[in-house]
Amino acid sequence: MYAIIGGSGLAKLSVLQEPRRQVMRTPYGEPSGALTFGKLGGRDVVFLARHGYGHTIAPHEINYRANIWALRELKVEGVIGVATVGGIRDDLTPGTLVVPDQIIDYTYSRKSTFFEGADAPVTHIDFTQPYAARLRQALLAAARACGEPVVDGATYACTQGPRLETAAEIQRIARDGGHIVGMTGMPEAALAREAGLDYAALAVVVNHAAGRGDSRERIALDALQTVMEQTVARAVRIIEALLRGLP
Ligand code: HPA
Repeated sequence: MYAIIGGSGLAKLSVLQEPRRQVMRTPYGEPSGALTFGKLGGRDVVFLARHGYGHTIAPHEINYRANIWALRELKVEGVIGVATVGGIRDDLTPGTLVVPDQIIDYTYSRKSTFFEGADAPVTHIDFTQPYAARLRQALLAAARACGEPVVDGATYACTQGPRLETAAEIQRIARDGGHIVGMTGMPEAALAREAGLDYAALAVVVNHAAGRGDSRERIALDALQTVMEQTVARAVRIIEALLRGLP
């Protein structure tokens, strides 16, 4: 069984067949909401809405540990995290889908590890390649198979939020080598690695990052809805193709 964590624009996976919901508890508290089990692309999947089903949990308030722990308990074979982002690199304009290959973490004060507390030995996971190569390649192959253009590789910068960035912050992130910017990719990816789960992200560019393109003066968040819905729908098609194509 594979897991899909849906972000903004994907609070419900309405294409799921025979859905049933289950509330789970973990040693870290409750996940963002009930987990929804169903079929997609002919395979069993479990879906979790990262911000809750009513989109009420802000990026810094998400219980990333409970979310990942629940998926670990379910022994899922892999996790696809779908997340909306702002585009920094010139070619990553609204409506673009990206399979990132690197991360820079600018978040702070988030509970970002399972390895803490008196009885947990100090553990350092390798995170050189933060995303599972196997799942990244599967996403890229699935996109090719269904004719959906996706960008292979970008550095995902994760900011703390919930406010958007200043133009100068985006300039700095660009200098650092960041290509897209979101608020939820971390610690999600790191916790998945700690939990031994294969994790890959599918990023949906919904706006030019602050100070860039048509966001030079401000980010018109209210204008993003249509491009978000259309692009998220394409992301779901790719995931469906991925599941269908699995051995
Ligand atoms: N910045 C941070 N997170 C985001 C953005 C952005 O511009 N767009 C969507 N999520």
